[in-house]
Amino acid sequence: MKARSTFTCSECAQSTPRWHGRCPGCEAWNTLTEEASAPASTRSRLPARSPVRLGEVRAEEVARMRTQIGELDRVLGGGLVPGSLVLLGGAPGIGKSTLTTMALARLAGAGRRTLYVSAEESAAQVRLRAERLAPGALDVPILAETDLGVVLATLEAERPEACVIDSIQTLHHDALTGAPGSVGQVREAAGEIARVCKARGIAVILVGHVTKEGALAGPRVLEHLVDCVLQFEGERERTYRTLRALKNRFGSTHEAGVFEMREDGLAEVLDASARFVGEATGKPGSVVLIAMEGSRPLLVEVQALVSPSELVPPRRVVSGIDRNRLALVLAVLGRHAGVGAGTADVFVNVVGGVRIDEPGADLAVALAVASAVRGVACGREGAPLACFGELGLTGEVRTVAHAERRRAEATRFGLAGVLGPPEIGNVRAALAQALGGATVRAAA
Ligand code: TYD
Ligand code: MG
Repeated sequence: MKARSTFTCSECAQSTPRWHGRCPGCEAWNTLTEEASAPASTRSRLPARSPVRLGEVRAEEVARMRTQIGELDRVLGGGLVPGSLVLLGGAPGIGKSTLTTMALARLAGAGRRTLYVSAEESAAQVRLRAERLAPGALDVPILAETDLGVVLATLEAERPEACVIDSIQTLHHDALTGAPGSVGQVREAAGEIARVCKARGIAVILVGHVTKEGALAGPRVLEHLVDCVLQFEGERERTYRTLRALKNRFGSTHEAGVFEMREDGLAEVLDASARFVGEATGKPGSVVLIAMEGSRPLLVEVQALVSPSELVPPRRVVSGIDRNRLALVLAVLGRHAGVGAGTADVFVNVVGGVRIDEPGADLAVALAVASAVRGVACGREGAPLACFGELGLTGEVRTVAHAERRRAEATRFGLAGVLGPPEIGNVRAALAQALGGATVRAAA
């Protein structure tokens, strides 16, 4: 059978059998490139096999290699699984190379065979970074190479137990179809590496860049290929970073780790809540949100500033929450609590560069904004108010998961009180409790 071509979009990885000027998936122009696809195989006449009841399947406990970086191990589900492929994504400068170098250094220190493949920086540059980290980092063997063929041959020859490829987008090979860094190349390179790592039982961490839209380049093509997708995020200028699992075949996707970037590398933040609560200002415009980071509650400070503006439309600037969520909260505040931001600029910030990605943050945003509008502090001096809850369009405060665990976490820190569902039924009641009578009056 003749090999047919498919056309794959370099933006969204959609493939079609025919060429289009505009991608039918993401509607980008001129992004389809031709790739040869394997001829469809004819159905072979293999004998049938009898399926086994799931309960009779032998599930062996997977042996894991602990990186000894507790937050990383927890997000991985207990450590690296031999023969597994982990994709670590994040914006440039977030600390992907630092984290992976540290992980290999600890593994090497524990007597594991490791290999760091740098396809982006020279060996000397990687050494300079390693010098800032714990001494063990200098023991990690490095291969500075961008040719996929050489990398694969070296993996076969060295047979490391754990390997980092930094980054998957900078590897290339003449035999790969498509332009360097294109979806086609990234997919084929990752596929080749996956084959070797499965065959040899090598645990591989592929470092991947995040495009400006926030998606891992070629996400759809790599996500199904790898066993685990980790996302490293935070703001480059801030010290805190969070590591989340977006997909994990060997563990939960509900875990998140918090790190702090220091002079000597990434330090685990073991009690992030204590840090953030300790730093909370308790001033007007500030409130403590009890968020859930996976199965762990995390207390973070949410701050708002509302200031008169000449701009039409006024600014709505967020950091750490979704901009559309702020629009919703402002509309609910205006319509159901008589707090109007009107033509003022509104800034909302989750302190420490943490990004909160759950609806339970709504009430905190509402209280921070209302507190800023009123100039009245939530809570008492030295004991900030904590809250959680989702806002509905009719002004109700909706239940969110893990209410008990959230409350328990707030109690640990002796906060001025916790506002949340089911005790607090609507946004007006929340404002009355948090800010006193002043909020119940209609906005001036
Ligand atoms: P890096 O790991 O190179 O980020 P990525 O691989 O994700 O692009 O490091 C990012 C930044 O962290 C870099 O600007 C320098 C800083 N940094 C420290 O502050 N302390 C350190 O010990 C190291 C190694 C880096
Ligand atoms: Mg890097």
